[in-house]
Amino acid sequence: MDLHLDLSGSRGHRDEIYRQIRAAVLDGRLRDGDVLPPTRELAHQLAVSRTTVTAAYERLTAEGFLTGRVGAGTYVRSGAAPRPVEPSGSAEGVQPRPEWTAVPAPPPPFTDPPEFDFRAGVPDVRLFPFDTWRRLTAQILRSSQAERLTYGEPQGDPRLREELARHLAVSRNVRVSPDQLVISSGAQQTIDLIARVLLRPGDLAAVEDPGYPPPRLLLGTLGVRVAPVPVDDDGIVVDAIPPHTRLVYVTPSHQYPLGVAMSPSRRRALLDWAEDSGAVVVEDDYDTEFRYSGRPLEPLHSLDSHGRVIYVGSFSKVLLPALRLGYLAAPPALAQAIVKAKYLADWHSPTIEQAVIAEYLAEGGFARHVRRMRGIYRARHDLLLDGLRAEFGDLLEPVPAAAGLHLSASSDVDLRGFARRAVSAGVRLYSLADFSVAARRHGLLFGYGAIADDRIGPGLARLRGLFDDLAA
Ligand SMILES: Cc1ncc(COP(=O)(O)O)c(C=O)c1O
Repeated sequence: MDLHLDLSGSRGHRDEIYRQIRAAVLDGRLRDGDVLPPTRELAHQLAVSRTTVTAAYERLTAEGFLTGRVGAGTYVRSGAAPRPVEPSGSAEGVQPRPEWTAVPAPPPPFTDPPEFDFRAGVPDVRLFPFDTWRRLTAQILRSSQAERLTYGEPQGDPRLREELARHLAVSRNVRVSPDQLVISSGAQQTIDLIARVLLRPGDLAAVEDPGYPPPRLLLGTLGVRVAPVPVDDDGIVVDAIPPHTRLVYVTPSHQYPLGVAMSPSRRRALLDWAEDSGAVVVEDDYDTEFRYSGRPLEPLHSLDSHGRVIYVGSFSKVLLPALRLGYLAAPPALAQAIVKAKYLADWHSPTIEQAVIAEYLAEGGFARHVRRMRGIYRARHDLLLDGLRAEFGDLLEPVPAAAGLHLSASSDVDLRGFARRAVSAGVRLYSLADFSVAARRHGLLFGYGAIADDRIGPGLARLRGLFDDLAA
């Protein structure tokens, strides 16, 4: 392992090397078994004689901090458990802009699955097509020219954009050329890229209330003023969008978190409003692939004849959130500006995974996987709906949803405290009110992507028991 030693200003190099390595072992920076650089290499790096380094190593070995065998290297010997590193710098150091203090900390990593896992927006990763993915990855790595393994196109793998354009045209009637598509780090990044090229600090944007929090929070950090706009059974209330709004972010297929689909008349009204006010509509179609009933409604993108809609999609729900791959489709001139923003943000998204998805789409595996998962999620949706009616008919009113990976249920009762108690009791779900800004929608939100069929009933029974205990 490389070892950073600072000999500037020290007079006795041998003692200093000894002292700094000893300190690194004692404070846990160096762990038992770590290999130290060979004496010749360290001497060269520090511009001291090899004898100096050898003397320091010998003293550390004699004191039991190091062990070494000729030809096998020098290792750290430490009985001490590694200690967490203290944060460097003082509390009064450089501070972020105040906008960032309003942003909550990111959610903790999903390491230990809860006993009953009703997390929202998470697919069943156990059913990911691992074998196909391994085969396609091996194929891509074998056939990859060096170009693909250095820096790729900021706009995204050309073949993926071609396949995706075809897929979107067939499956969603979203007709775009590959030049209009930009591959991003998840749908999440598209909001950042779009805002950067379209909005200035002080501009007004509108989001659904209740709604998906990250876009609202992100826009706020860019100095954009964000208006929460109520949602009813038909989707966002267009008449409530404030004048001078430049951009509105919506989830028409499966409103997040309520689950309602935006009605055809509301879609028309939103597009008319965008046309009249010269605004942009961001259509987040994040989990539209999982539609269980009814005819799919036309996306805003295909109803729009004035180029006012930016269409956003994600591979997180169909494949894996960990891939961090999503995309947007924008009018041509805008797409080119967004490509520049993508380049400046992170150059491009991972190329090997993009090539794998392109191949998966091309050979038809993607469409087969969507069909298979749709059947599995439909069964979970129905189990959850039946279970909610049976266990919570008196308390919760499920909100009809024809698509997606989550179901919400309204209530007249404030269930925020109950949802927190449920989480501590091993039932991971959400309170609807936590997604609201001004609208106080009470109720619960259940994801059914991650939970196995046979855990849904027992999870709801646990929840009911908990509720009755609290009410007693
Ligand atoms: C409404 C909505 N949009 C976007 C995303 C994020 O998608 P991605 O993982 O592609 O960034 C989510 C994730 O749950 C979501 O619920």
